[in-house]
Amino acid sequence: MSDPQVKPKPERAGGGDTAAVQISGVSKVFNRGRPDEVTALSDVDLTVDSGQFVSLIGPSGCGKSTLLRLIADLIDPTAGTVTVAGKPAAQARRDQEYGIAFQQAGLFEWRTVRRNVELPLELRKVPKAERRVRAEEMLALVGLADFAGHYPAQLSGGMQQRVAIARALAVHPPLLLMDEPFGALDEMTRERLQGELLQICAKTGTSTVFVTHSISEAVFLSDKVVVMSARPGRITATVDIELPGRDEAARQSPAYFEYVTAVRKALRA
Ligand SMILES: Nc1ncnc2c1ncn2[C@@H]1O[C@H](COP(=O)(O)OP(=O)(O)O)[C@@H](O)[C@H]1O
Ligand SMILES: [Mg+2]
Repeated sequence: MSDPQVKPKPERAGGGDTAAVQISGVSKVFNRGRPDEVTALSDVDLTVDSGQFVSLIGPSGCGKSTLLRLIADLIDPTAGTVTVAGKPAAQARRDQEYGIAFQQAGLFEWRTVRRNVELPLELRKVPKAERRVRAEEMLALVGLADFAGHYPAQLSGGMQQRVAIARALAVHPPLLLMDEPFGALDEMTRERLQGELLQICAKTGTSTVFVTHSISEAVFLSDKVVVMSARPGRITATVDIELPGRDEAARQSPAYFEYVTAVRKALRA
């Protein structure tokens, strides 16, 4: 397998590094002043260091997707500031500082796998030859080099999700935003993709904000698990995770189970 354009993983907890994401005093109120007004987020502070993998976990409706959408500049905060790579979120979006993958792979059925991955590059007017090379690199990275000419319907759900990740990575974003990307997959596929995602992030030095419902998934993937509570959505705890490794053995380690218990307790508090 080729090893394309691999950046070394940046040092963690950035000594002088610009944070990948900095959220300060952020609140989000939907339908403000109307009877159906809802405070989705209240006074949220969060820092994602460069190269860090951070998970957001909490009950349905606690504002996880809202927080991710604020980082992606898909919506504006009611109060507070969001910076990505040291820039205002809107500027970061224009500079393609991040890629996004959602729960549904969201592939175009009439495009081949290769042309799905090329799409964000097409939109950015990257020349055809370069697009082709980049798509092949990304497909190799997610282990789908042999499926470039297939159509989405010919792939399993797990493979489709890998295509979506390849597409999110195609612009070489320093930051990956993922909203329950493995939520629709069976447990086995999910665990395999978790391992693959970690390898990709390590190889490329990508920082990641990852939304999940799953405590075990959050603990296995993350450097930091951010626990949220609903109504209004707030961060109630953060749990720093330090596992000896991120292989299958790590899932059986006492430390892993201790972190799972710690996150579960924080969720119940
Ligand atoms: N566009 C919107 N308009 C009105 N309310 C919204 C909108 N998006 C989210 N909400 C509300 O904000 C709260 C948080 O939603 P969301 O961020 O999707 O939660 P989560 O992803 O944690 O399940 C919920 O009460 C939801 O109904
Ligand atoms: Mg959500």
